[in-house]
Amino acid sequence: MSTARDVLNGPGLERLIRFPVEKIRKDFPLLATAVHGKPLVYLDNAATSQKPQAVIDAEGLFYSRDCSNIHRGVHELSERATKCYEDARAKIQQFLNARESREIIFVRGATEAINLVASSYGRKHVEAGDEILITAMEHHSNIVPWQMLCEEKGARLRVAPVNDRGEVIFEEFEKLLGPRTRLVAVVHVSNVLGTINPVRKMIEAAHRRNVPVLVDGAQAVPHVKIDVQALDCEFYAFSGHKLYGPTGVGVLYGKADVLDAMPPYQGGGDMIRSVTFEKTLYNNLPYKFEAGTPNIAGAIGLAAAVDYVNELGLENIAAYEDELLAYATRALAAIPGLRIIGTAQEKASVISFVIEGIHPHDMGTVLDQEGIAVRTGHHCAQPLMERFKIPATTRASLAFYNTEEEIDALVGGIQKVKELLG
Ligand SMILES: Cc1ncc(COP(=O)(O)O)c(C=O)c1O
Repeated sequence: MSTARDVLNGPGLERLIRFPVEKIRKDFPLLATAVHGKPLVYLDNAATSQKPQAVIDAEGLFYSRDCSNIHRGVHELSERATKCYEDARAKIQQFLNARESREIIFVRGATEAINLVASSYGRKHVEAGDEILITAMEHHSNIVPWQMLCEEKGARLRVAPVNDRGEVIFEEFEKLLGPRTRLVAVVHVSNVLGTINPVRKMIEAAHRRNVPVLVDGAQAVPHVKIDVQALDCEFYAFSGHKLYGPTGVGVLYGKADVLDAMPPYQGGGDMIRSVTFEKTLYNNLPYKFEAGTPNIAGAIGLAAAVDYVNELGLENIAAYEDELLAYATRALAAIPGLRIIGTAQEKASVISFVIEGIHPHDMGTVLDQEGIAVRTGHHCAQPLMERFKIPATTRASLAFYNTEEEIDALVGGIQKVKELLG
């Protein structure tokens, strides 16, 4: 039986060897563990990534050294906690190259960021007969909030189609930008197909018609260097936990003037300047959108994750993952009967596939027995499954700590499933 290494030939190997993956793996305690008595092969990074010790320590240190609530206290611990939290905001600002730190709103994750924009910006600007434009490859988190808004307002959701490779058909996207389009909401990197959308070009097309754009960057931030000023999008949303950070924290970037003109999303502490029973005056950015005690430890952990990623360098990460993706794609494509769903020219390290006669759920269950963690199902993208006329896929999503040996293990696992169930 040939291994993935046999299938790989060409110039990429040198870079695979240079990237210090074995050293990096030691930073992630969970990667050294076993599942069902087998060494863990973690290929479910698009669902959530593993955390380096530096992130785990940063959260722990906050609770053991600085724990206090932020912004309202005059005592030492509160001042320390506030400084850590605001430093984290500044770190995210640099990471996204946002102009100002008040453009960074801490939220629970990408889902909450999108809901915030739909509820606040959407309710203010969308009326009956207006349109919201998305694409056929959106995650449910970037479909349902817009559907809810459209239902409430009598507006219409328009959907730009994708081709058989899983790329947005740009001409169709442009055609759907009409006089009633009030917002474009588009995923940067598809969680199912791995497609990297040409968001800069899409934003330019939308701006030519004065339409603002929200980019769902949940799958992009771990793989692609983001510069929100260069992109010029109005909103950019992502989750911390897919960027090697903690769960329960994420970011909404918004242009300051756009955010400033938006009504608050939730009411409560911190988002107010003054309250009487007659009238409440709202706080400045970013606090206007951060009602209640935020995930302070989460924000601090996310900043540690950004430090970790910055130290490796997103360019190095992307180059290594590209090589790993090429290696995995060649190895999987060589398996008889296996069809890869998503073959875009521009792709991040996500591979979905189906095998004739084997249900992805069975595939995932047998692989799990081998210690291999993949995701199976519709990946919160049911309309995309419908587009490709499949009920589900098996998805292997790769991170910079994955290795070609792990790809070999996946290939071996798939062969085993075929022998058992094929
Ligand atoms: C493309 C995309 N958008 C949004 C989300 C939602 O992220 P979260 O559940 O962290 O809010 C996901 C999660 O998988 C995703 O892949």
